[in-house]
Amino acid sequence: MNPLYYSLLHVFSLFVLTAHTFMAFANPAPENRKRTMMITGIATLLVLISGFGLLAKLHQNQFSGWVIVKLICWLGFSMLAGIAFRRPHLRSQLALASLFLILTALVMVYLVRFAAAA
Ligand code: HEM
Repeated sequence: MNPLYYSLLHVFSLFVLTAHTFMAFANPAPENRKRTMMITGIATLLVLISGFGLLAKLHQNQFSGWVIVKLICWLGFSMLAGIAFRRPHLRSQLALASLFLILTALVMVYLVRFAAAA
């Protein structure tokens, strides 16, 4: 499959994951929990699948440092919506942690990975 499709899926599922994670921070009402956990669960799986698709197509499945850092960011970010429902009083710290994890993953792609290629 053309890596552009993986790229599209990667970025789109990241948008969905981010939007629904921040919806959980804004309103962690128990009645929203099931739906949010389902949507973030599917989106996070698609981020991972498309990420590994890109890794296979563009990097011959080579695990460089930047990929490992992204995996750690992905793992951390994927857990935060669930934590928001169990510990709603931590929402502002969780939102800050989300921004940090997203920024770190973006730095890995746009600064570390592209700098290595230049
Ligand atoms: C918080 C998590 C993540 C964020 C915010 C993120 C973000 C991005 C973005 C914005 C791109 C650039 C897409 C493009 O230019 O077309 C990208 C590419 C990529 N991502 Fe992720 N990603 C995340 C998680 C992952 C995970 C878990 C993997 C697993 C292997 C992964 C592997 C890759 C690969 C291989 C590329 C292609 C890099 C290249 O063009 O050489 N990402 N990611």
